[in-house]
Amino acid sequence: MNSFVWQNRTRVHFGYNAVEENLANLIKEFALPGKTQVLLGYGGGSIKRNGAYDDAVKAIKDAGYDIVEFGGIMSNPTLDKMLEGVEIIKANDIALILAVGGGSAMDCCKAMAVQAAYDGDAWQDFWMDGKPMNFEPLPCGVVVTMPATGSELNPCAVLTNTETNIKCDRGYPKINPLFAVMDPEYTMTMPTRQIKAGTFDILSHIMEGYFSAPAGNWATDDMMEGLMFGLIRDFRAAVANPEDRDVRASIMWAGSLAENGFPKTGKSLDFQAHNMEHQLSAYTNCNHGEGLAVLHPTYYRHIYKDGLPKFVSFAKNVWRLNPDDYDSEEALALAGIEALDDFITEVGLPKTLREIGVDDRGMLKEIADSCFISQGAFRALTHEEILEIYEECF
Ligand code: NZQ
Ligand code: ZN
Repeated sequence: MNSFVWQNRTRVHFGYNAVEENLANLIKEFALPGKTQVLLGYGGGSIKRNGAYDDAVKAIKDAGYDIVEFGGIMSNPTLDKMLEGVEIIKANDIALILAVGGGSAMDCCKAMAVQAAYDGDAWQDFWMDGKPMNFEPLPCGVVVTMPATGSELNPCAVLTNTETNIKCDRGYPKINPLFAVMDPEYTMTMPTRQIKAGTFDILSHIMEGYFSAPAGNWATDDMMEGLMFGLIRDFRAAVANPEDRDVRASIMWAGSLAENGFPKTGKSLDFQAHNMEHQLSAYTNCNHGEGLAVLHPTYYRHIYKDGLPKFVSFAKNVWRLNPDDYDSEEALALAGIEALDDFITEVGLPKTLREIGVDDRGMLKEIADSCFISQGAFRALTHEEILEIYEECF
């Protein structure tokens, strides 16, 4: 196992009516004293169709604050949108930022909370240069409407700089939201496409930790195998019947469990598939979960020999393949990757870059060259090999 530090300060209220019952008190508890307004950050308007907007507005008013709205946070939020939000914060008397929505609304608001409390260029200093961040951002809490990123319970905020075509995150413990309120009922308005993309993102987060050193069986590997097995079961059930509330609630909590850092303690963390997807997204604005679904099987066929014991465990313990049916460990490992690939087909996720809107083959080299190379992978890729992977996925 590797040494690790684990910290998570987010307080979670999970359950039906969790917003109605808790949000006003949370705002009162965490708001900066002496200020009068709450900034309500959200996306393109889905929160107005599932009750989350009305519930949040009521809670803010019940807590005694005026509301400053900051809507229109796009999927794959941009640095410019984050800076626009900071201007609004500076022009007002904001006691707390409340993000309501999916990962994009949460990430943008978490980053705004950092920049609003910092005199320098937060993007350059923290996202690009990875300088230490040891000040307290503006208080920020979240109401989740879409399970996927785990942003509600983690220290990351992913932004896209559209001038440089760089999409990236940096994790600092103080970026964790102070609270996360999670009512699974809000997720019931999600389109099937987003259910699939978000749930695959959750699976990807687990795999990115699982497929990294140490390649043996460390305690949290067992936890991740259990999480993956259950998530695959729930994924199938949600596609078959999106109205099943218990299944959708289970996926919602799985999203937080997958990406709160805890299941991956002691592991190096790969995230090369994420790095490759982030740059595809930076150039083409493709959907995050769909991009991951396209990339993962091909990426794993490139690296499985470098982490063979984990790929064997994945085949046996997640896909429950019988080792007696295969004449070598390599064959078993490949069958596990094949099972993942077949599952992606079965649930109806895209399989090629062209299907997700990456249709200019000529751009692939530039995108590949812009990718961050993971140091936590079983084997560090080269930019040439990333291009090969893109070409194979095209
Ligand atoms: O914008 P609105 O109108 O709210 O609609 C959204 C959006 O169109 C919609 N949606 C969300 N909840 C809904 C709903 N529609 C109906 N009913 C609901 N209950 O779904 C669409 C996608 O939302 P978005 O927030 O963009 O999706 P997601 O949660 O997947 O977030 C994606 C962003 O998070 C980043 C991704 O790269 C991408 O930028 N990530 C953040 C991470 C983190 N903070 O830890 C880690 C991830 O690996 C990821 O990189
Ligand atoms: Zn992700």
